[in-house]
Amino acid sequence: MEKLVIHGGTRLNGEVTISGAKNSAVAILPATLLIDGISTINNLPNISDVKIICDILKELGAKIHWNNNNEIQIDTRNITSWKAPTDMTSKFRASYYLIGSLLGRCKSVEVGSPGGCKLGARPIDQHIKGFELLGAKVKTGSGIISATTDKLVGTSIYMDTVSVGATINLMLAATLCEGTTNIENAAKEPHIVDVANFLNAAGANIIGAGTDVIKIIGVPKLKANITYSVVPDQIEAGTFMLASVASKGDITIKNCVPEHLDCLSAKIIEMGANVEYNGDELRVIMNSRPKAVNVNTLPYPGFPTDLQSQMGVALSIADGTSIINESIWESRFQYTTELNKMGANITSQGKTAIFQGVKSLTGAPVSATDLRAGAALIIAGIIAQGKTEVSNLIHIDRGYENIESKFKALGANIRRVKE
Ligand code: EPZ
Repeated sequence: MEKLVIHGGTRLNGEVTISGAKNSAVAILPATLLIDGISTINNLPNISDVKIICDILKELGAKIHWNNNNEIQIDTRNITSWKAPTDMTSKFRASYYLIGSLLGRCKSVEVGSPGGCKLGARPIDQHIKGFELLGAKVKTGSGIISATTDKLVGTSIYMDTVSVGATINLMLAATLCEGTTNIENAAKEPHIVDVANFLNAAGANIIGAGTDVIKIIGVPKLKANITYSVVPDQIEAGTFMLASVASKGDITIKNCVPEHLDCLSAKIIEMGANVEYNGDELRVIMNSRPKAVNVNTLPYPGFPTDLQSQMGVALSIADGTSIINESIWESRFQYTTELNKMGANITSQGKTAIFQGVKSLTGAPVSATDLRAGAALIIAGIIAQGKTEVSNLIHIDRGYENIESKFKALGANIRRVKE
């Protein structure tokens, strides 16, 4: 096991280049199963979730060649199975995208129930409702989800909950089906638009991704031999923006889409930060102690739940009392227990947490409870007085590429050691 050892008290300064979006990559890779041919995907983040999905695709018969750490060529002409190994699919959340893509490709699928960060119940009833409306028979139980169909036929699907996963999964299933599918009350995250752009680049006919209603006009076949570049990671960019705010730093974030972060930019300006957009770069300068603000996480374009814990670090040292309402997940405040070990003063109850800002944090041994909480604890260690050790790095490595070298390049005193 490894841990990160951080000596704090640093004001971060410099440039960081953002990797491709994890939550887009883990959907686009299964989506290549809808193509009977070779595809090249680049700007892939070099993270463990991408490696796991590639291993699963190989188990299903795909051939994968890594052109470099961030680009693969995938040949899906010879898919020999529609049963994904359950011990692999339960390792992360996005394995559920194999359902939509294998239903579309093979009309049958069997995957283990998805894993992922422990944020609450994380049901997939909206995925299943959509697959059944499209004409699939879905069975769940004993940790397995299986589905089969003679033919998928387009229809209207109204989502009871705005769901990123269900929106993408149903888009995958509808791409090759007969007729037209309308997904209403769809999620609008940038990675949903990215998956739609990838499918359209391969000849799909998807209109309205990024709005509440996505129309998918089924096509008989997708084109092979396309090359596609994954969109920059909105959440990684936001993580570094909040690191600048918390550390009273000056960070230029390169290879990002600033407009994807409008909500966060507005919030950190309220906290006293200067934010400059410049093409595919975004600069955050913070010269004073952050002001206290209130935050309510919402589906895009609202404040992203995946930046909630990183914002919590900035609020833990803000001047005044702040409230965060976590409207998406039932239990996404575990990180506040770790921050309180570092001298923060946070009380959380259900979906609400109250942050009484303290002057500074003090270093302590802490443990990452989920992917974004892990990133938040790194920021906390960088701004705290003294030494912090962050363990349980398996969570962080699922979603951040070379996170310690990116922070080191910004001036952090951080190194990865064997536990
Ligand atoms: C995706 O999870 C992301 N993961 C999560 O990011 C992110 O927090 C979440 O979207 C919200 O933005 C990936 O993309 C791999 P949802 P997902 O379906 O698809 C409820 C990270 O840190 N719901 O949008 O699982 C659900 O309980 C990870 O990168 C149902 O009720 O999230 C939640 O309250 C953590 N029924 C809300 O909807 C369903 O069938 C949003 O969930 C599906 C979801």
